[in-house]
Amino acid sequence: MKSLFISRAKEFICLFYQEKELSGTNARLKEIEDEIAETGTYTHTSEELEFGAKVAWRNSNRCIGRLFWKSLKVRDRRSVEGPEEIYEEVLEHIRFASNKGKIRSAITIFQPQHPDNPAETRIWNPQLIRYAAYPQNDGSILGDPAQLELTKICQDFGWLGEGTAFDILPLLIQAAGKHPQLFQLPHQEIMEVPIVHPRFAWFADLDLKWHAVPIISGMLLEIGGIHYPAAPFNGWYMLNEIASRNFGDEKRYNLLPAIARAMGLDTSQKTQLWKDRALLELNEAVLYSYQQAQVSIVDHHQAAEQFMSFQDRELEQGRQVEADWTWITPPMSSSSTPVFHQEWTNEVKSPNFYYNLSPWEAHHPEKVQKAQQCPFHAQKKTRNSPDWACPSMTLSSMVS
Ligand code: ARG
Repeated sequence: MKSLFISRAKEFICLFYQEKELSGTNARLKEIEDEIAETGTYTHTSEELEFGAKVAWRNSNRCIGRLFWKSLKVRDRRSVEGPEEIYEEVLEHIRFASNKGKIRSAITIFQPQHPDNPAETRIWNPQLIRYAAYPQNDGSILGDPAQLELTKICQDFGWLGEGTAFDILPLLIQAAGKHPQLFQLPHQEIMEVPIVHPRFAWFADLDLKWHAVPIISGMLLEIGGIHYPAAPFNGWYMLNEIASRNFGDEKRYNLLPAIARAMGLDTSQKTQLWKDRALLELNEAVLYSYQQAQVSIVDHHQAAEQFMSFQDRELEQGRQVEADWTWITPPMSSSSTPVFHQEWTNEVKSPNFYYNLSPWEAHHPEKVQKAQQCPFHAQKKTRNSPDWACPSMTLSSMVS
């Protein structure tokens, strides 16, 4: 399987030299082959790393925000090892990205995984900033139901939340070969936006808020066959992600019925257009609140247009855009955006970001086995160590 690794490395190096219009590809390839023969792996230069991370974003078939791939700030932190130091860098990422609301896209790349060594640096949280979930006696859930499992794990590690609907979960940081360590994020470092409505005063009584920056921390960055399992990255929010999905989904905060009732709508009607009305007001409230707070956000119409510009620019460069229509198409007013009316092929190109198995799932043998079926990781098939997990590649790169 070393040959698959080497061919991935070659493919990436050739892409780098070609797009950057550099000479010396063969010399670099030779250097890499020698390094692999000697150490079992190779080391990206910081230029290769920066290019690789940007192209991984460009290749993210589910991301509508790719027009800005070149502006990604790449923070090379491969030499940072201890959990405290990793935590400090993560905090610095949050500060850099938040930028008083003028959000900047960034990625912080920690140690890669050695192909022959199961020990890996991981951030257990799927995103750096997430709200806890607490099951209530009546069967309902307080907080974000999507974080039930992680909340339980944090509690097992000794964390005690305040018990509100918006408790920021602590970070679980695992340095390679070590047990994860818990870090409480200081409140003053996390920008949040209280949600109000431009016309409905009662909206503020719902006591809603959301965090300013989405920073994905559970995905694996793959560049030229090298795996970076800890590489948190962020963009800024698209409106629907917060309003329609996080607040609107039945399995998340499920706010449509409460909003519809407050609007005086009859939710018992057979036709359920009250949901559409509530969704629209909820979206307007979130957009208005982020704009009032001067926190970057993009609505779905604008985002879809930006995606079309991205496609034009890529075509100009002779590159065909790959995309996952089901993700690119916004969940609201889809057909009134241009992306609805187009189709794409959905081929996964490298470099890319992949879903990774949750670190705690490594302890479930059946899940490890499932992950090991992934062709990309076939070389790891024989490993069964309980504290090691093969990244589960869904072969569709993405961001949830
Ligand atoms: N949908 C996720 C959330 O609501 C965020 C995913 C990344 N989104 C982004 N705009 N970069 O938290």
